[in-house]
Amino acid sequence: MKVIDTINSEKEESLLERSSAFLRNLILSAVDGVIAADMKGKILIFNDAASEILGYTPEEALKSVNIRQIYPGGVATEVMRKLRSEEYGGRGKLKSYQVNLCRKDGEIVPISLNASIIYEKGREVATIGFFHDLREALKMKKELELTQIQLLQAEKMASLGKLAAGVAHQLNNPLNGITLFTKLVLEEYELEDDARRDLKRVLRDAVRCRDIVKELLEFARQTRQNIHPQDINKVVLRMLFLLRNQDLFQNIKIKEELSESLPPVPMDRQQMNHVFMNIILNAAEAMEGSGELTIKSYLSKSGDKVCIEFSDTGPGIKDDVINHIFEPFFTTKEEGKGTGLGLSVVYGIVKNHKGNITVVSKQGGGTTFRVELPIYQEKVSFDENHTYQE
Ligand SMILES: Nc1ncnc2c1ncn2[C@@H]1O[C@H](COP(=O)(O)OP(=O)(O)O)[C@@H](O)[C@H]1O
Ligand SMILES: [Mg+2]
Repeated sequence: MKVIDTINSEKEESLLERSSAFLRNLILSAVDGVIAADMKGKILIFNDAASEILGYTPEEALKSVNIRQIYPGGVATEVMRKLRSEEYGGRGKLKSYQVNLCRKDGEIVPISLNASIIYEKGREVATIGFFHDLREALKMKKELELTQIQLLQAEKMASLGKLAAGVAHQLNNPLNGITLFTKLVLEEYELEDDARRDLKRVLRDAVRCRDIVKELLEFARQTRQNIHPQDINKVVLRMLFLLRNQDLFQNIKIKEELSESLPPVPMDRQQMNHVFMNIILNAAEAMEGSGELTIKSYLSKSGDKVCIEFSDTGPGIKDDVINHIFEPFFTTKEEGKGTGLGLSVVYGIVKNHKGNITVVSKQGGGTTFRVELPIYQEKVSFDENHTYQE
């Protein structure tokens, strides 16, 4: 009888050992991070997922880390307070609570935590937390928000563009009339000096209005596109050749860092001239005619886009201004100097080439505009009223 008892208790012990080893394995290999600690904060369980998220090895954590080191500031106390309250999933429980943890290297990691207090005979003996890393999810959420903002921006530009085009069309004819007839009067009549001076002023202002209307029409992309594969370096160099001799550029050092062997980029050369000219003129104006302009061209890492960057040593763009620079009529320049249409036209042209334009600016540290243009474009992707030629 005694022999059988011993055999039974040995069996039970090995069963118990096996099942506790199984439970242990279950926790250690869980996909979520699992940490259990006693009421003094000494860590009792620290699985591989926790190790991956927090940077401590399980041995290190069990030996020398207190749970309070993992919760920065007063977060440990806050978590305990919530655990003990009834409000967050019942007494002794905390469900899907977003909180920050501190990694071994000091980085703060946002996590979603499910935690509970372990009681023995009504007494708190330990806490256990199951958590997962929210960094990736939060990053995706941020990217999604950014895409939504960009979409809204694109929509806003499109409706403003339509409005601008309508107004521009209505203004075009009377403006042409004003310029034409003013020119005629100036050419065909004997005029007193004062009258001639005043009329010349009328002509100058009318021409200025016409230029603005032209920009507006350009902005609304009502001009036809004429796309050919082009050597982007050549387009930029030609533009620089024209601009270099202007007064504004006399004290500006222009550095060219153009990558050779770039593939040709399909583009409407005239429109792209407009893009580069606007960006370069803005840079020169920001530097008030003295500084350094660096122009870089290179192939994107993915190999399917050509990038061109314009960096100036101007004052940079303030945070509250940078979000508006591509909007039509947004200008920080004094009246008569800026129309605020330059960059909105640039934006429209680049988007119409299926490209992208980005700006990076540090206050006081200069500004860089980057234009990315795809090497290949699909014929069908152009608007109906635009032509595409091989
Ligand atoms: N390189 C630059 N450095 C600093 N600010 C710039 C730069 N380029 C553009 N900006 C800002 O963007 C605004 C809008 O530019 P733009 O659309 O070309 O209109 P405009 O030049 O007529 O003001 C400018 O008024 C200026 O505040
Ligand atoms: Mg401008």
